[in-house]
Amino acid sequence: MSFTAGKLLLFGATGDLAQRMLLPSLAALHADELLSPDLRIIGTARSDMDDAAYRNFAREALEKYLPADRRGGMAEFLGRLSYQTLDATTLDGFTDLADKVGGTDNGLAIFLSTAPSLFEPTIKGLQHAGLDCDNVRMCLEKPLGTDLATSCEINDAVAAAFPEDRIFRIDHYLGKETVQNLLALRFANIMFEPLWNASRIDHVQITVGETVGLEGRVAFYDDAGAIRDMVQNHMLQLLALVAMEPPSNFDATAVRDEKVKVLRALRAVGAEETVTGQYRAGAVNGEPVPGYDEELGKPSDTETFVAIKAHVDNWRWKGVPFYMRTGKRLPERVTEIVVQFRSPPHSIFEGKGTTMQPNKLVIGIQPEENITLSLMAKVPGLDREGMRLRSVPLNIAMPDAFVGQHRRIAYERLLLDLLEGDQTLFVRRDEVEAQWQWIDAIRAGWAENGQTPKPYPAGTWGPSAAIALAERDGVSWHDE
Ligand code: BG6
Repeated sequence: MSFTAGKLLLFGATGDLAQRMLLPSLAALHADELLSPDLRIIGTARSDMDDAAYRNFAREALEKYLPADRRGGMAEFLGRLSYQTLDATTLDGFTDLADKVGGTDNGLAIFLSTAPSLFEPTIKGLQHAGLDCDNVRMCLEKPLGTDLATSCEINDAVAAAFPEDRIFRIDHYLGKETVQNLLALRFANIMFEPLWNASRIDHVQITVGETVGLEGRVAFYDDAGAIRDMVQNHMLQLLALVAMEPPSNFDATAVRDEKVKVLRALRAVGAEETVTGQYRAGAVNGEPVPGYDEELGKPSDTETFVAIKAHVDNWRWKGVPFYMRTGKRLPERVTEIVVQFRSPPHSIFEGKGTTMQPNKLVIGIQPEENITLSLMAKVPGLDREGMRLRSVPLNIAMPDAFVGQHRRIAYERLLLDLLEGDQTLFVRRDEVEAQWQWIDAIRAGWAENGQTPKPYPAGTWGPSAAIALAERDGVSWHDE
């Protein structure tokens, strides 16, 4: 149903995500006059606060997390905010909350960023208070379950109150400009698509490296581990965007139909195709850091690193490995996709003192937003001993190509799409389920084989077995 929501109700309004991302994104959209002047934002959480105290709380968050040059019109922005204390575990407070929200005739978007255990009681409370009517949208932030079964439970509970076309599941990677740029690169240029298949591509690498450790998220992270925290969602979405067929349109149904086909075509992963690790004390960026078990305060079998060799079983990708790796306390914060092309079928330069290096496309998602295509070129000279060639980069730095544009927070785009009702960059239920199915099978394999994470020193690229995973196939991880 198409409407622009006139109200936004934020559950978890005092949480970490609200402070770091949601309030700053909304304030930045306000500063750029991208929010409807009438939009009201109602925060709710367990803490006892009134409107004035919440505005204060929000101001402090903005001062901390939003760059000063994006804080225009802060007083008016704060004027949009109000707050209602709520204990979401009982139905009692929901009627007061509905009174605070007022009517929903102008459309309401609800953003649920709370502990997953509160999802079901919250939905029940919303139903009880009549906040589940036709012009209400529901947006859900991860974690949406810990496996297929629990994710289905949450999805069923939400589906009892809201139809799929009003459910918006966040994967904040889809809000990143550079992730969307993958679609532009593939489908707005003619030169890549004819080469984008098993006959021209040798393999793909997807790396999401982080330098941070547990960051105080002890309970959550130790129950999740790298595969559920990063691969199940963000990395599989990146893989789907790289591997999907061209959709017929840039709309929610067409794009998500193609992504889900890829997710369903993922081959079950064999025991020798995954490596897990857990960081030990080491140094990151020259600073000594403790090991995971020390941060946690107890020994644990949770993986803080995972590498997987995946396959998409369809015509386009037959025999092309997708190597994925992600971890905490790696040497750098980097998200990138490497598309390694095959060598030309015949080289006229072979045996002339030159080694051909096949073309490689590196798509830098963060922190650098750049696209580099490595090409073979002639080394200048008179070639008395044969023509010498070398690989040189064709490099596009996005910030240089688009000077003067803000670097936006992923949530700015997603919140705006939520308010306006565009689901293209939100994850559909069938995608989430296909993702979990694949992940559950990998984890079941680990349990069956008694696979526990191998230690790696903080500040390195994971256990050496992860290097071997690629090297067995004659592949080196990019930048190692
Ligand atoms: C979150 C994970 O979904 O993504 C975190 O729970 C991780 O563990 C974060 O740090 C990474 O996001 P970004 O945008 O910093 O790459």
